[in-house]
Amino acid sequence: MAKIRDIRPLKWTGESLLLLDQRELPLKEEWIECKDYECVAQAIEQMVVRGAPAIGVVAAYGVTLGAREVLKEAKSFVDFKAKLEFIINRLAATRPTAVNLFWALKRMKRIVQAGFKEEDIVAALETEAINIERQDIETNKKIGYYGAELLSSREVILTHCNTGALATAGYGTALGVIRAAVESGKDIVVYVDETRPYLQGARLTAWELQQEGIPYYLITDNMAGYFMSLGEITCIIVGADRIALNGDTANKIGTYSLSVLAKEHGIPFYVAAPTSTFDLSLRSGKEIPIEERNPDEILCCHCKDCRIAPYGAKVKNPAFDITPHENITGIITEKGVINSPDEEKILEFFQE
Ligand code: MRU
Repeated sequence: MAKIRDIRPLKWTGESLLLLDQRELPLKEEWIECKDYECVAQAIEQMVVRGAPAIGVVAAYGVTLGAREVLKEAKSFVDFKAKLEFIINRLAATRPTAVNLFWALKRMKRIVQAGFKEEDIVAALETEAINIERQDIETNKKIGYYGAELLSSREVILTHCNTGALATAGYGTALGVIRAAVESGKDIVVYVDETRPYLQGARLTAWELQQEGIPYYLITDNMAGYFMSLGEITCIIVGADRIALNGDTANKIGTYSLSVLAKEHGIPFYVAAPTSTFDLSLRSGKEIPIEERNPDEILCCHCKDCRIAPYGAKVKNPAFDITPHENITGIITEKGVINSPDEEKILEFFQE
């Protein structure tokens, strides 16, 4: 049976934050050390670390580092709090779509607001960041448990982007379901979309599966429909960056097309995400901000030396799309599964 390795994208040393540089994977395993909040903010912007839950955890450590910097400089308690607010806003401005980032920063902000003494706030912020990290792993294992229960003893699962240990504090969401299914002895084969343009599938998901000996085939995104038409795919599981009140889901660009193909071919289409990925303040997916990324991601094939489009080509590069809730068979969370999600079911789920 495959051996599940404990892959982690980050390590808090107590003094600094170590980040596995995901831009270099799978060819190099290099760690970057962040000693200040600006380093953390840039690491999120530049995709050293990515994935909705992971950027939330990392931002929480960014606030912790920032608070230690501010402690040395602040002229008064009011100044201390104002400077911390500036840092939280800086971290919030790094990426717009994944709501886990804002969820984690809100938790950190609450600690700042509740504190009366600078040193106590600094200590409490570190504890909160550690809690957010630990809770994310526990949450993912629960998602894995509920997701694996939905699967039969043999499945061929198509997945998109990277939703694994690298996209979270550890274990993963959609990939966590795959891990849990393998751990429970199910016979699982994974079809991995390469995930143009940033290739999180080809570089990161393939790497994670390979580390653990879980059988997979890497395919290009435009092959997915063909394999569905051949009847080779029995289930699709993806992650999420933000889920609106009605269940509409923002996830990596290309997810929407997969959901349409799944519907056409009668294949179950699951979204696996923690409850921190829900944004109940938004009525539908239309309100979710979609990040537009650097044209170079499309003009070049991952590295700048490998240009593939003519100079002067105009580019559109939305990083995410919206899958309408009608196309989703179920949302797998750490608290259970919301089948055929819609506003009523989601409200009921969160009221329990
Ligand atoms: O641009 P990225 O790599 O941060 O996008 C990541 C995704 O879209 C993931 O599918 C999503 O964050 C879920 S990760 C558990």
